[in-house]
Amino acid sequence: MEVKILSAKFDIKDAHMLEVAKQHGAYSQLDKLFSMEPVAVIEEVKNSGLRGRGGAGFPAGLKWSFLPKGLNKPVYLTVNSDESEPATFKDRYILVRDPHMMIEGIIICCYAIGCHDAYIYIRGEYTSQVKALQKAIDEAYAAGYLGEKVAGHDFKLDVTVHRGAGAYICGEETALLESIEGKKGQPRSKPPFPAVEGLYGCPTIINNVQTIASLPYIIENGAAAYKQYGTEKSPGTHLFGISGHVNKPGMYELPLGLPILDVIEKVAGGVLNGKKLKAIIPGGSSTPVQTPEDAKDLTLDYESMAAHKTMFGSGGIVVLDETVDIVKLVENLAQFYHHESCGQCTPCREGLGWILKIVKKILRGDGTSADIDLLVELCDNIEMKTVCVLSAACTMPVRSYLIKFRHEFEAYVKKGASAQANVKQG
Ligand SMILES: Cc1cc2nc3c(=O)[nH]c(=O)nc-3n(C[C@H](O)[C@H](O)[C@H](O)COP(=O)(O)O)c2cc1C
Repeated sequence: MEVKILSAKFDIKDAHMLEVAKQHGAYSQLDKLFSMEPVAVIEEVKNSGLRGRGGAGFPAGLKWSFLPKGLNKPVYLTVNSDESEPATFKDRYILVRDPHMMIEGIIICCYAIGCHDAYIYIRGEYTSQVKALQKAIDEAYAAGYLGEKVAGHDFKLDVTVHRGAGAYICGEETALLESIEGKKGQPRSKPPFPAVEGLYGCPTIINNVQTIASLPYIIENGAAAYKQYGTEKSPGTHLFGISGHVNKPGMYELPLGLPILDVIEKVAGGVLNGKKLKAIIPGGSSTPVQTPEDAKDLTLDYESMAAHKTMFGSGGIVVLDETVDIVKLVENLAQFYHHESCGQCTPCREGLGWILKIVKKILRGDGTSADIDLLVELCDNIEMKTVCVLSAACTMPVRSYLIKFRHEFEAYVKKGASAQANVKQG
């Protein structure tokens, strides 16, 4: 089932180093790139059907084509390497094992969109990754792949690494821009969208690491070759991080469209120690949960996820076995999102705290059935009433656990009520 496009060099010794990467094809597409018109590059990427790998799945070439033409302003590219969504660990493989693939992707994107200054925004906690990335960028400058004349062509490109300070919200594209500008990382209202008014008020494209790293393959082999993988509407391959209760957790590159249960069984070695599967988080902590029954016909592509009222997200699949306490899981989830709320919007700042308090109350044994209803009501009232979707990244999964595993919340309520009755009787 596994495919090696993005991960082709991951297991080659020292492939993060320029000399080794070049022996395996790095930067070999630049002459071809510069022989093409920028619009032809955008067209090729559009035809490939490549969709953004940061979570929303927006078509990359289409996003690039939204840049206004004829403005007398610089155009910026920002590569989103924040990778803070719990259960997500794909971009770090690219940053450490094949950074030159991403740098070549940056050159391709910048040439296509007319950008001469690109930024890579990397999460604060990625200490070793930032070192590896900066080393690769320094090598690329020294070899003339970045700087005044990219690979000897009449095209200037500078790449700057900007390290975050460890805030999940700075993965949201406009909070990320604020952060690069030296401000508090809080999302902007949209519109205007960054493609029109982004970094320093200039047109800006924001793409995920994996989206950008997919470009060298597309330029080398063409859109049709890329579309051989995946489904019609979700073409290509994806780096899936599979974690939780499986026998072989890890990062696997797979074509989109495979049945999720087959992937868990055949790729990740099945549920750990032969235990029963309880649930699956399909694409990072913010995606609504799937029961084994839901997942029977769930495939790893954007359309199937939407049909199952969940999301493809970041491709971080978490497998939960029968021993998992869903109420404790929800407490953990709410704790994370409450902590990471930037505080700008009241429903998110206050509401996520209320979700956490009520879940804690239920866990303590002080909850009632009305509290479970109240949690659902809170989710409904928080969602889509904020500047960005961080709050929804909490309420969407929380609601799914409340609905699909209500009996586990009720069990805590019952246990608490009988303990209190015993105390009274005693
Ligand atoms: C709270 C929040 C966190 C996000 N974190 C990330 C992230 O860590 N990495 C990422 O690529 N996209 C993240 N996104 C999505 C970005 O806003 C944006 O859609 C993405 O970087 C666009 O790139 P793509 O089109 O290549 O997917 C996040 C969104 C939200 C709302």
